[in-house]
Amino acid sequence: MKLSSELDSFVQSHLNLQVKISYPEHHDFLIRHKLNECSQVLDVGTGNGTFAVRLAQDHPNIHFVGIDKRKHCIDSCKLSQNFEAFQVDMFSRESTFDFSRFDGFLMRYFLLHVDNAQKILELFKTKSKRPSKFWIIDLDWSQFTCEPQHETFDKLTKLVKDFCSKISVESRGGQNVLPLLQKLEFQNIIVENIPFSTQTIPIDELALYLKQEIQCYSIMSGRASNDPETSEIVQFINEDFRTGKYQISYGMILVSAELN
Ligand SMILES: C[S@@+](CC[C@H](N)C(=O)[O-])C[C@H]1O[C@@H](n2cnc3c(N)ncnc32)[C@H](O)[C@@H]1O
Repeated sequence: MKLSSELDSFVQSHLNLQVKISYPEHHDFLIRHKLNECSQVLDVGTGNGTFAVRLAQDHPNIHFVGIDKRKHCIDSCKLSQNFEAFQVDMFSRESTFDFSRFDGFLMRYFLLHVDNAQKILELFKTKSKRPSKFWIIDLDWSQFTCEPQHETFDKLTKLVKDFCSKISVESRGGQNVLPLLQKLEFQNIIVENIPFSTQTIPIDELALYLKQEIQCYSIMSGRASNDPETSEIVQFINEDFRTGKYQISYGMILVSAELN
């Protein structure tokens, strides 16, 4: 119980930081890829809804719906006139949620975090309206680099990869999205890679982001709160990384596609 509330509070604060850091770029991507042509947008795996709420504020003429399988996420969403949230598990066979009324589908930090992305895209292909737009925004761990190399950073990447394999998520998933969309015959697929790195993000924000990321993965991997390797990684971020001597970069993949 204590572990799960500790994790929940890390996850909430991490999602908020992700939105703070990335909203302008991700919003710009959505606008460039026809968000304004949609009237009903579904945010799949909305978490605490922070990103969707900001979208709803910026686009009062679009109706947004967030869905998440976790009740406490839905309970923490700030609802408004054009933002609603519902508890829906994308893999539930009993769900009666109606996907056919949406003409926009946002999957931000969602599709590559689940173990069967194809099943979700197939469902949208069967149920969604025509035309409809799809946006997938996710981190690409295969492009997670540190220059110059540092052995503690290697432990950090290993922690992430071990966790991904434990929950059967492909850590190179970012590279699989394009062939998957092509195989399912989505149209007008456009892929952009925007580095999420010391080049584009203030060092203090990136340091906080990395620390929270490590703490989340460490707890989710079942490590103790005083795990020595986690402490070593946090110390590397607090000390060596903050000197500015190390350039750390995550790959970020932004994909837009359509069904016409
Ligand atoms: C990393 S969070 C992303 C939050 C949000 N999209 C954002 O951009 O801040 C992923 C969310 O997907 C939800 N999720 C995972 N599997 C799901 C499923 N099968 N159905 C619905 N939601 C799911 C999780 O509960 C979690 O809140």
